[in-house]
Parts: sequence; structure tokens; C-alpha cells
Amino acid sequence: MIEIQVKSGSAVKQRDDAVVIPLLEGRKLSDSGKAINAASNKSLVDYLRKFDQSGDSGEIGTLYNVQGTLTARTVLIGAGNEKKLDLHKLRTLAAKAARHLEKSGARDVSFFLSELAVRGSGAADKAQAIAEGIWLGLYKFEQYKSEKKENKRELRSVTIMVKSRRDLDAAEKAVAVARGVCRGTIFARDLANGPGNVCTPEYLGDQARALKHKNLKVTVMDKKAIEKAGFTGLLAVNQGSSREPRFIVLNYQGGKKGDAPVALVGKGLTFDAGGISIKPPAHMDEMKFDMCGAAAVLGIFRAVCELSLPVNLLGVIASTENLLGGAAYKPGDIVKSYKGINIEVLNTDAEGRIILADALAYAAEQKPEQIIDFATLTGACVVALGSEASGLLGNDDALQSKIEKSGKHTHDRVWRLPMYEEYQEQIKSEIADIKNIGGRGAGTITAACFLSRFVDDVTWAHLDIAGTAWDMKGSDISAKGATGSGVRLLLDYLGRRTV
Ligand code: BES
Ligand code: ZN
Ligand code: ZN
Repeated sequence: MIEIQVKSGSAVKQRDDAVVIPLLEGRKLSDSGKAINAASNKSLVDYLRKFDQSGDSGEIGTLYNVQGTLTARTVLIGAGNEKKLDLHKLRTLAAKAARHLEKSGARDVSFFLSELAVRGSGAADKAQAIAEGIWLGLYKFEQYKSEKKENKRELRSVTIMVKSRRDLDAAEKAVAVARGVCRGTIFARDLANGPGNVCTPEYLGDQARALKHKNLKVTVMDKKAIEKAGFTGLLAVNQGSSREPRFIVLNYQGGKKGDAPVALVGKGLTFDAGGISIKPPAHMDEMKFDMCGAAAVLGIFRAVCELSLPVNLLGVIASTENLLGGAAYKPGDIVKSYKGINIEVLNTDAEGRIILADALAYAAEQKPEQIIDFATLTGACVVALGSEASGLLGNDDALQSKIEKSGKHTHDRVWRLPMYEEYQEQIKSEIADIKNIGGRGAGTITAACFLSRFVDDVTWAHLDIAGTAWDMKGSDISAKGATGSGVRLLLDYLGRRTV
């Protein structure tokens, strides 16, 4: 991650390789734009009159060696209608500007984006959004490209300029939060983008163990320990794979001693071929991302450690592959779960809920204050919500409202689906306690109904991140591949609990 610092000062006096200033709809200059214009014998107004930059959101134009300034590049970035600005627009503008500058040869640059007014947001919120945009927008996954790009003049640092010296302190703290959040998000992306032959259950365990903090304890169970503990759901799904499963438990004690933790549970299928109910070949490679729930949990822990957040957290990850080896579990099998509930397996591709059954039951046993799980659980969720929002379900209205609030604030968005009692009918089994698939309709909901059987009466929320966890088109703040969805969301949620 490049360096980001915070300063206040005039755009005219910046000696950096580039100064980024916003341009509003209707060719309206912001304060720093006006200052440069005044210092340069109206050269910005002149430029705007002659060229086609109108201030539309995202448009970028560069002026070189503007008179009266000390910088080589004055970069104007369109910010659109100021009234319509929100924190996410700011985040994406920062990402676009950073990506543009990355190719320019500029090394040290300063951003005057925080002078844009965002209703309801102060200097801290804005600085955090800008920093997140820069770090997340510049993310790339290039570990497996043998030919390294030789760019001698790489972008090295960004200075986020704030309007007044009085804002410096709050903005610096906000950038520190953004740094933790982005380290966590990038950790989650790197894990998830890793191919299935590298990112195995064993590897996930090693990565969890490599997290270091004085308040963190990590336990990784191998197959033998999993057998001993009785995580039979995880073992059933693992039968078709020649790689061992892992059950990972993370304990972070940053809060008051004795306070019940928030439990975070993640689905860690390092590859989901569907098992005997095999998936069609098109896009099957994307099922290396079926561990994005686990990656989100590890990303959150990484950030919580980085920021030393004053919370108590329990992390539980169940990890395996879902393959078709000779010993694979089969449609028709009945699997007795860790909790003792008998599951009739009617489709081996609905495996996430079977391993989560054990992880959730184990988490509930630890008497947490609440459980929040992350899982790329259903294709139905992708059909319902696409890649714009994660599905949010659970048994507690207040918890869901808080998660929704964080979704809006971080733009790591969620959308609620109902869990009416009637849906539970769909997973009744003729010969066992429950079956692992429902009928044709409401696939995301019946999957959540299945999970609900394993949390007892613990307050619980389920995030189906199947549509948001990866994006093969990429977006302003994410390269093609894993997005790290859930990390920003939950860190905001945890942050609000500590104030
Ligand atoms: N990992 C998949 C869900 C998934 C599918 C995530 C597509 C992202 C994109 C999950 O294990 C699965 O295969 N679920 C089945 C359940 C069905 C058999 C009831 C599904 O959604 O098709
Ligand atoms: Zn599956
Ligand atoms: Zn799966």
C-alpha cells in the first residue's frame, strides 16, 4: 500500500508532482480551483472555455506547468453535482484519480477532494472515504504474472489536503482507520484471489495462524482434531477431497474481560465443484472464491488486530474442498451434524450450509453476544440481488438494522430478505430431521432457514455474499476478482459499538 498523509495548505503552494482538484458540474471551480485560477491569470477558466471538460463525474483533464503554481500537473477531476455527492462518490473519485495518476509518472501527489461538501459528513468521514478509494482502487493481484512491469516512476505517496488545520487531527485518525480497513480488505482479496491449488484449507489455517497480536489466540484443528471434536458435517463434505479439512478458531480479547464476544463465522470452501451433484463447467473456476466468507472473517480479524479495536471477537471458520473422490458423500446420504441434527443430503452442491451447521453450532455453544456469518451460500442470492448488495437474514430485527446502517455508510451494501416461519416447511425431510435443499422458490431464504436450526436462540445475522464477494468485471474500487465484501461493513459495525 502506498503512503497516505494528511496536510492543510494552499493548492498554489504545493510542490508535489501533481495536484488534484475537483471540478463541479457546469464547469464550476472549487475553492482550490479558484485559488489556482487567480494565481495563474485565469488560466483554468481559459482552459475550461476552450476544452470539453464540463465537470461531469469522473472526467479527468490535466494541465501542465500552470503559471503561478509549483506543481507540474494540475489535474481536474469532474465531481458532478455537488448536491448529489455522498461518501461513496468521493471514494470512487479518489480511486479514479489515483488510478489515473498511477500511469502518469507522478510520484508524490496531493488531493484537494475533501473540500467537496458531503451532506452529513465532516473532515474525518471524508478523509476516510478518500483514503479507502486510493488504497482499494490501486489494488492489483499480480503475484502470478512472471513479467514484472518495470515502472521506475511509481506513484509513491498521496497527501490528503484538508481545509483547515483544525481538521488535521480527526482526518489523521480517520486515515489510520482506513489503513486498517484496507489492509483487512486487501488481505481478504489476496486470500480469495489465490488459486484453489494454493489456497487450500491448510493454507487458510496457516494464514490464520500467521496473524499476530497480543490479544489474539488462534487454534487450527486438523482432520484428526476435527474427528475428535465431532464436526461431522464438515467431515461429510470433505469425504470427496484428498486434502484435509481445517476448523479454525480465533479468539481476540480487546474488550472488557468477561464480556461475551461477537462471533464471526465464515464459509471456507476453497473449491466447490458441487460434489457428486457436479456443477456445469462454465465458470466453475470461479468456485475458488467459495471461501470468501472465510476470507472476510480473516480480513476483519487482520484489521481488528491492526487497529487494536477494544472488542471481544470469536472467529470460526470451517474449510474444505467439495470434490468427487470415490469416498464422496452422495445424494441420499444422511449426515448427523455436530449438533446431532440429522441432515438428509439431497444435493451435494448445497454443502456450505452443512459445514456452517457445525461452525454455527460450535459458535453458539461458546455463548457469544451474537453471531454474524458470511457465506457465498446461494446462486439464488446472485439472481435476486446481483452484485450490488449482500443478502441479509437472521433472527433479530435490531441487529439487522444496525448492519443495514453500516451497509449504507460504507457502501458495502446489504438487503434484507424475510424469514417467515412458513419457509421452514420447505426443508422438512421425510426420513431425517431436515434436508439440505428446499423447493424451487426462495433459495436464499431456505438456506438461511437451514442455518437458523443451528444457532439456538443466540442473536444471529447471516450475510449471503454470493453476489458481492467477487466481480469479474471489476469496479471503481475493486480490480477484477475478489472484492473483500463484508470487511468494510463489519468494521464499521464493530467501530460503532466501541463509541
Ligand atoms: N457456492 C455455491 C453458491 C454460489 C453459486 C455462489 C453461484 C456464487 C455463485 C453453493 O455451494 C451452491 O452450490 N449452492 C446451490 C444450492 C442448491 C443446490 C440448493 C445453488 O445455489 O445452486
Ligand atoms: Zn455448492
Ligand atoms: Zn459452495
